[in-house]
Amino acid sequence: MEPNTVKCAATQSRPATLSAIVVVACDGAIGRDGGLLCHLPADLRHFKNLTMGHSIVMGRRTFESFPKGALPGRQNIVITRNPEWHADGVTVVHSVDEALQAAQMPGDIFIIGGAQIYAETFARVQTLHLTRLHATFDDADAFFPAIDPDEWQEVDCERHEADERNHYAYDFVTLTRKNNQT
Ligand SMILES: NC(=O)c1ccc[n+]([C@@H]2O[C@H](COP(=O)([O-])OP(=O)(O)OC[C@H]3O[C@@H](n4cnc5c(N)ncnc54)[C@H](OP(=O)(O)O)[C@@H]3O)[C@@H](O)[C@H]2O)c1
Repeated sequence: MEPNTVKCAATQSRPATLSAIVVVACDGAIGRDGGLLCHLPADLRHFKNLTMGHSIVMGRRTFESFPKGALPGRQNIVITRNPEWHADGVTVVHSVDEALQAAQMPGDIFIIGGAQIYAETFARVQTLHLTRLHATFDDADAFFPAIDPDEWQEVDCERHEADERNHYAYDFVTLTRKNNQT
């Protein structure tokens, strides 16, 4: 943990098969103009640490927002309705069900966005890895589904202040579905 990190709650989280990972502003915003809301290097590292060696599932628009194509060390599964679409290093599928069946890497399957794919998979997701930005962005146009506190339990929260490289304060938060806790 970095020196400016404060542990704000912690219990054990149980392994889950389907997780979503997202950077989300205070109002649920996740993107604008086809891209992310801000550049947060600490989150890129966090995302890499959590997803490396696993299968990641995304919509075609999110994939096309990546500057260097498929993310290395992970099975990149991209959902599109276009039967012609393909890209190097990508498992192409045409529905959410097909995406989940195509996952071959061990451990959790990570839903990595964007807004359409989060919405379409949300009911099946058992664990949320949120990077909660302490900020709002006026021109956001993509949003994460509402997280009902009656349905979700926060099991871990790591607070970070803004610094020279990360211009917003943020929390790394893990939530699990309450019906997933026995
Ligand atoms: N903050 C974050 O952590 C985060 C993470 C990821 C993305 N984002 C942001 O989210 C935004 C993109 O989200 P988005 O909702 O516009 O796009 P998206 O969810 O990334 O991709 C949408 C595309 O996925 C395909 N698709 C969706 N549902 C499908 C289904 N049931 N069957 C087959 N194909 C399906 C379609 O592709 P075709 O059009 O090819 O058919 C559709 O156009 C961007 O601003 C991005 O930066 C934010």
